[in-house]
Amino acid sequence: MTILGLESSCDETSVSIIRDGEILSNLISSQHFHLKYGGVVPELSSRAHLQMISPLFKKALEEANIEKEEIDLVSATAGPGLIGALLVGLNFGKALSYSLNKPFIAVNHIEGHIFSCFLMEEKPEYPILSLVVSGGHTLLLLVKDDLNIVKLGSTIDDAAGEAFDKVAKMIGLGYPGGPKVQEYSEKGNPKAIKFPVANLKGEYDFSFSGLKTSVLRYIQKEYPILEKITEDEKSNIAASFQDAVVKALSNNVKKAILNYEIKTLSVVGGVAANKAIRNKLIQLAKKFNKKIVIPDIEFCGDNAAMIAYRAGKLFENNIISDLNAVAFPALPKNAFIAN
Ligand SMILES: Nc1ncnc2c1ncn2[C@@H]1O[C@H](COP(=O)(O)OP(=O)(O)OP(=O)(O)O)[C@@H](O)[C@H]1O
Ligand SMILES: [Mg+2]
Repeated sequence: MTILGLESSCDETSVSIIRDGEILSNLISSQHFHLKYGGVVPELSSRAHLQMISPLFKKALEEANIEKEEIDLVSATAGPGLIGALLVGLNFGKALSYSLNKPFIAVNHIEGHIFSCFLMEEKPEYPILSLVVSGGHTLLLLVKDDLNIVKLGSTIDDAAGEAFDKVAKMIGLGYPGGPKVQEYSEKGNPKAIKFPVANLKGEYDFSFSGLKTSVLRYIQKEYPILEKITEDEKSNIAASFQDAVVKALSNNVKKAILNYEIKTLSVVGGVAANKAIRNKLIQLAKKFNKKIVIPDIEFCGDNAAMIAYRAGKLFENNIISDLNAVAFPALPKNAFIAN
């Protein structure tokens, strides 16, 4: 079965073609021009998706060496994301499905991230404990099978990626901040500053807002003239902040491993590219004798291969969408089964 995936939820336009689980093409065009605004400008994002989607689709067909008529299933991200950006991929997909007379599946972007671990050579086994850490979400989920996903916890304020981006901005590292914070952390001392790790009522919930404010207060107190902050000090702040995030994430993962029968541990989403987070979870999995599957960096951030893969799973389970499928900006409250 040949599946086309389209992704345009934020600042990446991506088109992928997968056939029987094999990735024939996965093209990603990132909108780096948002950098000068310090964050994604929604209207500019929509326009750039419009410009990119058609040429990318043509290039993906070329790279996969197929004609568009060979596509058996069309899929596109429907949400969550920026509404104008989502509409570009979603409507492109619907039009293609209509003109090719092939089924269409509207995919939840977060489900795309969750199942991105199946794109790896080593296949995860259910039940999977899935830590979703991205720019807009932080969730701890128990993935029982293709369709049953139980929500154990989520962030009560900022997402992990958001915290990385904001801390990067505070110390002048630019946007997106995650990779920069990681780079600086590698040169810093994670024990230099003690930043707080939230201890919440909800056993598996997360909070990064207090941590973010604590970094801000520290900077305001120690460096009233921000320009005076040295590269070494930036590295220590980055390393200490990153260490607190690793602790917050791994504390909850450890509790869940102890309380639930799981076979595989997985971490997905843009922040799963972070080396310290990957290393800590690999250590945890080893300690508790669990399989661990983390997507390669290319599949941590937004990509259409994960959308095509998820669509394939839904199709196998007889779930398809109609052409009235709508774009949605936020994750629906009932998106996953409550614990
Ligand atoms: N090495 C890294 N360390 C930490 N964070 C990182 C790293 N690489 C990327 N990130 C962060 O990942 C986030 C982007 O992830 P992703 O593209 O999955 O988010 P999104 O699609 O915008 O949000 P969502 O998937 O929740 O809708 C950004 O916040 C970025 O800073
Ligand atoms: Mg994403």
